[in-house]
Amino acid sequence: MGTASFEMFSNEYKAIIEREIVEYVNKLKAPAIVKEAMIYSLQAGGKRIRPLLVFAVLEAFGKSLRMGIPAAAAIEMIHTYSLIHDDLPAMDDDDLRRGKPTNHKVFGEAVAILAGDALLTYSFQLVTDMTNPEVTAEMKLNLVSEIAKSAGAEGMVGGQVADMEGENKQLTLQELEYIHEHKTGKLLTASILSGAILAGASEEQQLHLRDFAYHLGLAFQIRDDILDIEGSVELIGKPVGSDVGNHKSTYPSLLTLQGAKQKLEHHIELAHAALGKTTLQTGLLNELTDLIANRNH
Ligand code: IPE
Ligand code: IPE
Ligand code: MG
Ligand code: MG
Ligand code: MG
Repeated sequence: MGTASFEMFSNEYKAIIEREIVEYVNKLKAPAIVKEAMIYSLQAGGKRIRPLLVFAVLEAFGKSLRMGIPAAAAIEMIHTYSLIHDDLPAMDDDDLRRGKPTNHKVFGEAVAILAGDALLTYSFQLVTDMTNPEVTAEMKLNLVSEIAKSAGAEGMVGGQVADMEGENKQLTLQELEYIHEHKTGKLLTASILSGAILAGASEEQQLHLRDFAYHLGLAFQIRDDILDIEGSVELIGKPVGSDVGNHKSTYPSLLTLQGAKQKLEHHIELAHAALGKTTLQTGLLNELTDLIANRNH
């Protein structure tokens, strides 16, 4: 699939998911302030990489992309909650996110924490409430299980804790890899596997897709670490130098900027190789992978 159609795909499905996530929250019967805080961060922008991965996997299997909307929205909500909490004073203490003041700067810490909690829990409701007749009860259970594991202590939360515990320490590359795989890679894995579950992927295809997700996740966070140094605040929409300020171990701090870039290349190559083994129509997934490698925001 050529670049023109990739752009059409990403523009169309970004617009769909941005409309849907806000509509889902608007439907909630809940105090106005928590809905406002949820929508504030959901609407703040963002690349929507995780929803696009769900849709691109469905495309690879030749399935209806629309069937992925609730799962894609659910994962974008969990991702957005993780960013709200990541920016809190008790965590990275950042003031800018997606080009706007962070949630706690606008709504205060208590509402920011609760808006995050509400996004996390609502995501599971979106999955259990899926009404598409092609989505079986077993698929919903598998989605809930995959997403819960990826988001929780064995997934993103575990990575965030290890990231915090690693502050002010010189980590080994193995320890840093654990952090990156979990804090970032796991939600990307959940996106890819959600598409696979909805598409009825075989065990073997799921294994190759997990391998793809593993390398994509590491590459994604290595690029994030590089942008924390080389990026511009206007483009990344969040502060530059947050990692150095918080004394974090990152790929550049362990391997130098040049070494980090080599690792990024290495994982991108292995991501493409894993995709090649799936025997699916991986045009969009290959393009998303290159976008992640080369992104400047
Ligand atoms: C930022 O994620 C946090 C990480 C896991 C590295 P993104 O770079 O996907 O952030 P948005 O969604 O585009 O704002
Ligand atoms: C965060 O990693 C990963 C999350 C689970 C939110 P970072 O702390 O590096 O993400 P940014 O740079 O603030 O987006
Ligand atoms: Mg962090
Ligand atoms: Mg952060
Ligand atoms: Mg970062």
